[in-house]
Amino acid sequence: MKIIGTGSALPSLSVSNDMLSAFLDTNDEWISTRTGVKRRRILSTETLLDLAVIAVEEAIKESKIDVTDIDYIICSNLVNIYATPTFSSIIQGKIGANCPCLDINVACSGFIYALDMADAFLRTDKTKNVLIVCAEEPSRIVDWTERDASILFGDGAAAAIVTKGKDLKATHLTTTSNIDALFYQRKLEFNPFVKRKEYGRPLVMNGKEIYRLAVSNSVSDINKVLEKSGIKKDEVKFFVLHQANMRIIVAIRQNLGQPEEKFPHNLEYYGNTASATIPILLDELNKTNQLVKGDILVLSAFGAGFTTGACVIHWSGTNKIIK
Ligand code: ACO
Repeated sequence: MKIIGTGSALPSLSVSNDMLSAFLDTNDEWISTRTGVKRRRILSTETLLDLAVIAVEEAIKESKIDVTDIDYIICSNLVNIYATPTFSSIIQGKIGANCPCLDINVACSGFIYALDMADAFLRTDKTKNVLIVCAEEPSRIVDWTERDASILFGDGAAAAIVTKGKDLKATHLTTTSNIDALFYQRKLEFNPFVKRKEYGRPLVMNGKEIYRLAVSNSVSDINKVLEKSGIKKDEVKFFVLHQANMRIIVAIRQNLGQPEEKFPHNLEYYGNTASATIPILLDELNKTNQLVKGDILVLSAFGAGFTTGACVIHWSGTNKIIK
């Protein structure tokens, strides 16, 4: 598997911490020091589909393949207005592709799971190119009247075209059932045969538990993929981590004993965009010429489930479009 095109798109509305303190009992100082987030982009006039299509079209353009050459679309998405049909099939129609499509929902670990699935598809004769798209609007599952989780998130989309190649050196995925750490419960339609009371609940997060699970699992996953691939920490150019919050990134970095410059971050501008954080950051690194052929990248994510995933990529480069 190798990545030959990347793309990303963010909503136009940028919401600062001060804007949140106008309606929440919070302040810029608390949010910045506890999480690192200073602003986030929030969908208002555009739709998630608009963002997804922009990100995908940019990735296709960069890959120099034709949309009809895409053999599979994998879309990672937590939630959107359609529970059915799949978001990938809606995107497929908009971009004019004609391949099978599927959605995955492993929360913020989605990009790594999708890379692993794409790698398996690409090992078969029938698949040459896979489109991965991570499109997320966590702003629609948080409770905007509560300050605990709403301050962390932002919306965004990113895409990658992957084709046959040998850049993926190792992957490690885990799922350990743990509903209480992080969940969102939607209310289903009325059913006259169900007598129990049912309520929807906006995102519930046990912040301390997430922090603990994130740091310990990410460090362990990263060490595992490095060992599997026979690559040393010092050979890694960038550790591209899920942009959940800055304190988690710092704790992982300190555990690994690696320098600050190896941990790029953009959560200060975009907040936590769920499974889109890693491909958005990857696209930024790519488009700002920070990646060169031969670079070793380690990707690591964690999310509700509790899911985690890490992989090692020996970057061979895309047909870059400079933004
Ligand atoms: N503004 C101001 N004060 C706040 C806010 C806020 N937004 N949120 C909580 N507080 C207050 C609390 O009420 C509490 O006050 P008290 O001491 O008077 O009771 C105090 O700040 C401390 O609250 P805690 O919840 O203990 O804060 P903590 O230091 O644990 O920080 C945080 C909370 C930042 C969420 C932390 O637990 C964390 O980083 N957890 C990781 C969560 C995370 O990153 N989730 C990402 C999404 S999930 C994912 O991507 C997989």
